[in-house]
Amino acid sequence: MSDPQKVLTARVQAALGHAFGEPDADPAIRPSQFADFQANVALALAKKLGRKPRDIAAELVERLDVADVCEKVEISGPGFVNLTLRNEWIAGRAQLMHGDERLSVEPTATPQTTIVEYSSPNVAKEMHVGHLRTTIVGDAIARVLEFLGHNVVRDNHLGDWGTQYGMLIEHLLDVGEDSDEGMLLETDPNAFYQSARARYDTEEEFAVRARRRLVSLQAGDPETMRHWQRLVDLSKVYLHTVYGRLGVTLTDDDIRGESFYNDMLGATADELAADGIATISDGALCVFPPGFTGRDGGPLPVIIRKSDGGYNYSTSDLATIRYRVDKLTVDRMIYVVGSQQSLHFQMLFAVARMAGWLPDGVRAEHAQIGNVLGSDGKIFRTRSGKSIKLTELLDEAVERAGAAFDDVPHEEPFDEVARREVVEAVGIGAVKYADLSVARDSEYVFDFDRMISFRGNTGPYLQYATARIRSIFRKGGLAPEDAIGPIAIGHDAERALALHLLGFGSALETAGEAAEPHRLCAYLFDLASAYTTFYENCPVLKAPDEDTRASRLALCALTLRTLSKGLELLGVTTPERM
Ligand code: ARG
Repeated sequence: MSDPQKVLTARVQAALGHAFGEPDADPAIRPSQFADFQANVALALAKKLGRKPRDIAAELVERLDVADVCEKVEISGPGFVNLTLRNEWIAGRAQLMHGDERLSVEPTATPQTTIVEYSSPNVAKEMHVGHLRTTIVGDAIARVLEFLGHNVVRDNHLGDWGTQYGMLIEHLLDVGEDSDEGMLLETDPNAFYQSARARYDTEEEFAVRARRRLVSLQAGDPETMRHWQRLVDLSKVYLHTVYGRLGVTLTDDDIRGESFYNDMLGATADELAADGIATISDGALCVFPPGFTGRDGGPLPVIIRKSDGGYNYSTSDLATIRYRVDKLTVDRMIYVVGSQQSLHFQMLFAVARMAGWLPDGVRAEHAQIGNVLGSDGKIFRTRSGKSIKLTELLDEAVERAGAAFDDVPHEEPFDEVARREVVEAVGIGAVKYADLSVARDSEYVFDFDRMISFRGNTGPYLQYATARIRSIFRKGGLAPEDAIGPIAIGHDAERALALHLLGFGSALETAGEAAEPHRLCAYLFDLASAYTTFYENCPVLKAPDEDTRASRLALCALTLRTLSKGLELLGVTTPERM
């Protein structure tokens, strides 16, 4: 265990056990202004035991065995216990972290089978900026939880079923899949959708065929199913391209779209009706989960089966929950989906719990994703009002990254191929990091200039920080792996950097537990800042003596590894040279 906060927690808990028979009390270890940490437990415990907080603190300190870890233990104020770590302890832990493949992040003792459902675009419709954000945030959540040792099941809940398929299939059959129009499915699915839609709205004969096709599809007609499958497959080609360019870890095996649950909808509806949970209202089969009311104050329904016999989005999601709980035996489900669907998920989980399909031990969370806004404060769109094509957006990011890149000084010139590679990584990294660094449920304004800046909490800044560290090693004629220390602490800036490095595991755990990648971003940004202070105050290659130089190089190498690992878990690549 390297994390000081955890080490101190365990030590204080042991003392609480000995002194008061309260080994499970929360020691409430927090970073402190006056020391490294403070334990605030005495205040809460005093209340519980009916004693004075200062007395509790004194007894606690008496029993506290931290001589190896802390240089100073002091009681302050009404009963805070201030804890100052020993430099040797910090250095020793940093050294262990540096020698460890996993950077001292121990795999969790309680691995959970966790579904991370993300991306989930609709077939034959281009992903828009909203889908981009759920894709990027979801991928980071999956990566972090996996690294922490959970059994992560990635799930791309593709919107691949619904009434528009009659129209889309018929259009594909008319134009042919090898035609320019058919090829759009692989390059610009939105355009394909829009021309199918335009024909549906204007050509009566086409509309009649499209409706007939939908009936065949719903009846499972084999010929029609084949065409539908073709349509879905062509759309997958498009997704491959986008995921590939973004470095998103979703594969075809992770796709379990809405169509997958189609056969289970009937039974799901029937069971709800049989159990008396769903009732007929205005001809539709509905559940009214308690606590949800409409604008008129009346109870709000979840519609399970419409009066025409068709099933709903909610029915499909209920079947999905049953499948995941029964067949995949999940412990936790994280739905990374836009915050507009918040009510849908609240009601969905309520109904699933009523039906007994979502046992108490299973966590179901809607990890809400806030809108990405244009500079006008409205949902990000082009001037013509259409949502922006994702590929064009990424191209523009890369182009602008190129301009910014040419503006910063480089040690050595780049040839065109190398430049293009770095600029692609910077442009894509900038867009991804912008999505990740803002609390995921907050809206934010999409602003190329800000996200591509080499200053502030941005992707390029952190990428640049890793490249700068690598350049120290190049100048020193040494590989980072060869910088083995030993780490020792002399300067305050070395101490602050090493202490921050030790918090990597906790930052990951917090991000994983809350499914909030922005917490990891904040940690990495603070780490880069601590490194900058260190670098400005502590010469590395020109250190005053060999031991100091070896120690500082090891701190540089450990910072590099931690930043790189953190960025990797966010899905942001780090060019070797910038
Ligand atoms: N396909 C949906 C959309 O684009 C998102 C699916 C969300 N997931 C779910 N289980 N309902 O809006």
